[in-house]
Parts: sequence; C-alpha cells; structure tokens
Amino acid sequence: MPLHSKHLLGLDGMARDDIQLILDTAVSFREVLERPIKKVPPLQGKTIANMFFESSTRTQLSFELAERRLSADVLGFNASGSSVTKGETLKDTARNIEAMKVDIVVMRHWAAGAPHYLSQVIDATVVNAGDGGHEHPTQALLDMYTIREKFKRIEDLHVCIVGDIAHSRVARSNIYGLKTMGAKVSVCGPATMIPREVEKFGVDVYHHIDDVLPKTDVLNVLRIQLERDAGRLFPSIREYHNYYGITRSRLEKAGRDITIMHPGPINRDVELSADVADSEFSVILQQVLNGVAVRMAVLYLLGTRNQS
Ligand code: CP
Repeated sequence: MPLHSKHLLGLDGMARDDIQLILDTAVSFREVLERPIKKVPPLQGKTIANMFFESSTRTQLSFELAERRLSADVLGFNASGSSVTKGETLKDTARNIEAMKVDIVVMRHWAAGAPHYLSQVIDATVVNAGDGGHEHPTQALLDMYTIREKFKRIEDLHVCIVGDIAHSRVARSNIYGLKTMGAKVSVCGPATMIPREVEKFGVDVYHHIDDVLPKTDVLNVLRIQLERDAGRLFPSIREYHNYYGITRSRLEKAGRDITIMHPGPINRDVELSADVADSEFSVILQQVLNGVAVRMAVLYLLGTRNQS
C-alpha cells in the first residue's frame, strides 16, 4: 500500500498504517547502511532539492545522505547564500527550483506552516524538515524507530518529553506520532514552557522531573533553545539545570533504566549532563544513524508512490 499523502508535512492526523509503513520500510534501509556498499538504486533519475532557510547539521546531512544512498540527484540550497538575500520570495524561489524538473523538495524553514504553503504552490512533493515551532515529522519518526528498535514495541511504553514543550516542533510531532502508535506520553517542564490546554493532546503534565522519572521508560530531553530567547522562560541556566537537568544521580535515584534520547544539538550540562549524554542510557547517536534509514524510507515511499 502506498502512503496516503503525496507530501510529508507533519504527523498531526497521519494514519497509524502510514507511520507503521515508514517504520517497517526503514528496517530494510537500516540493513543497507550496514553493507560495505551503502547504496541502492530506487530513486535513480529522481531529483531532490534540499531548501534550508534555517541552520541544521543532523537533518540536512541526514537527508542528503539518504538521498544519495537512494541514488537520487541532489541539489543543495541554503537561503543565506541564495537570491533570498536579494528579496526573492519563497514562492518564486521554489517555483524556479521546480522549473529545473525537481521531483521532491525537502524544506526547513523558520516559519511555521511554510512547507504547507509550499505544497500549495508547487507540484513537487514536499517534505517538512522542521518548520518553526510547529512540526519536525522525520525527527519524531526516527525517535519512534529508535524506541521500537530498543523495546520491540511502542505501544504502552511511557515516554516523557522534558523541556520547552511550548516552542518545540520535536515535542509536537512526537506527541502526535507516539499517541497514534499507542504510547503513554507525558510532558515535564516549568509552567512557562508548557502550552496552555496541553492535556487536549492526551498527555499527562508534570512540573517536577523527579516525580515522573520513576514511571518513565524513555526520556526525550529537549534542547533549551537559547537562540529563540528561551532564557526568558526561567531565571537562569543554572536554575534550569538544578530543577530539570538530567544527571546521573537523578537517574540513579529514579531506580530504573531509563532510555535517554535527545534530538540534538545538546547543550551539555544544561538540559543533559555530559556524562549521561555519553552513558549507557543514551541512544542519541543511534537516533542519528536511524535518521538516515528513516529518511530513506520516507523519500523512497514518496518518490515511488505513483509507481506502486
Ligand atoms: N535534530 C535536529 O533537527 O538537528 P539539526 O537542527 O542539527 O538538524
């Protein structure tokens, strides 16, 4: 069965079957990444443009690698070195790129909704690589893949997301995806970082991290987004670390093995102590590796959708 949608704009409303299909397909591509020659031909002849209007390390490199591993032709575009700096609009930029016969556009943008807008003004398939504080669907898919790889299931696991939930596209996509896949989801952070009426998402809310840790299977630790002025939301970085920072002593006090995830980049010793980030509890680098396989699955399923 092909995916229901031509685009991947978010996990809000995405069918369980579609998420399952992406995660199952990613298993095959994860195996390809272990081969001596890590390249397969399904997107030969397809052209993919990566339009990045905001900084990225993991997502941009991961998409580019996924595209090359699938044998697609790849165009790179960073807004800072483009005619956007001369005032060209998003629509004109995208339509010019599309005129070069591009099949898929992968876009990261600082504005929430930008990929949705793009999908309405171009014919190419659009993949959201993170839009403002709205959604980051491939991050949540690779997070779910990593959870499923470790626990062999997602259903009934307790996943707690800690940090700035209100401004996090990673949190939003994870909540949508994990709830669809049957996980129990909670969020934890100071009141200034929890969106109003967050219970409507079907999550439990905690303000004290030590209350939720003893009940948690997986802790997804969010980055404090200092570049988005997150420092206004708590008195000091030291205080945030004292109340919400994930440390080895805190994990030991919780009395259970908790799997630690983080989307990156990490502020070491702010939201996550350096020794925990590098510890046996952490699956952070597995997330990065799995990200390539999951993005290969997404691009393969979207790029071959009309052929199925
Ligand atoms: N996880 C994530 O989106 O990282 P980048 O901002 O480096 O792409």
